[in-house]
Amino acid sequence: MTRAKRKSEHIQHALKIGQSRLAGFDDITFIHQSLPDCSIEQVQLRTKIGELTLSSPIFINAMTGGGGEATLQINRKLAIVAREANVPIAVGSQMSALKDPSEERTFKIVREENRNGLIFANLGSEASVEQAKAAVDMLEANALQIHLNTIQELTMPEGDRNFVGALRRIESIVNDLEVPVIVKEVGFGMGRETVEKLQSVGVSAVDVGGFGGTNFAKIENERRSKLLTFFNDWGIPTAISIIEAAEASREVSVIGSGGIQNSLDIIKAISLGASATGLAGQILKILVNDGYEALIEEIEEMKKELQIMMTALGAKTLLELQHVPLLISGQTHHWLTERGID
Ligand code: FNR
Repeated sequence: MTRAKRKSEHIQHALKIGQSRLAGFDDITFIHQSLPDCSIEQVQLRTKIGELTLSSPIFINAMTGGGGEATLQINRKLAIVAREANVPIAVGSQMSALKDPSEERTFKIVREENRNGLIFANLGSEASVEQAKAAVDMLEANALQIHLNTIQELTMPEGDRNFVGALRRIESIVNDLEVPVIVKEVGFGMGRETVEKLQSVGVSAVDVGGFGGTNFAKIENERRSKLLTFFNDWGIPTAISIIEAAEASREVSVIGSGGIQNSLDIIKAISLGASATGLAGQILKILVNDGYEALIEEIEEMKKELQIMMTALGAKTLLELQHVPLLISGQTHHWLTERGID
């Protein structure tokens, strides 16, 4: 199968399967505050991921690039949305373009359309330091995402089977790269053991990429006649994963992603300890169904709704939002009790 075909199949299956609502946010309830002592003018959405400053806690997470004209057009529109809504954007894995420079244009379009925005380069943990530098240079990127996707690879017939040495390669990249490194999952979540290992090699930002939204086991199983269905329910739900990551380290910036669809999911992710949130499947759906102008509007709407809810909670900043009183029930509560997390 050609790479272009695989990329377009990922997009088609992601749209067809859609996102589940299993990320765990329904287990989180805010304790209503009748005296929030807050005016909406006081609420500000600015946040930081490590040393990067974002105007709001929303960014477009890694999806595509490589392949042909279809992915180029998607990336062009996503870049325009990122520019107009003033949110960072991550591209999909650039490994294909490092191997075949004719694919570079499907990535470079993102910088061409968004000259001054925050752009995240993207590679897998098989990448060398040289490849990491080349991926960043290709986009004049402001950060590099390194994705960890063992379950996706194992589910793919043509996927990797050898994951030895990933942490050491990540360490080398963190030490040698001039931009920050964000290590991310792709929908299976990270537990505290993973975050502790990443912190031990100097990683300062993790994107938990939790279970409950886009499901790459299902997407790959759809492509391979449903052989490894035991991976369909594999992974750590996003709400739990954010708490685990925040618990593992106070120094590492935590990004909440995996199944984030609306402002309520975003505000809950922040209240559990995330500094920002990445949206992939939901962004793709709105872009393809409603167009890029509707997507810009939707992101602006989400920002307004965040300010409204923060006013209700009396949280003027995202830092204050991380400490509002809330109740945790259901599977999330059970998980935290079993894992000894207060
Ligand atoms: C992705 N994702 C992804 N991640 C990554 O690091 N590199 C990549 O190349 C891709 N490719 C990709 C293609 C498509 C079509 C989708 C929908 C997603 C994973 C993405 O960044 C994210 O981690 C997961 O999709 C979970 O988040 P959502 O979709 O539930 O918001």
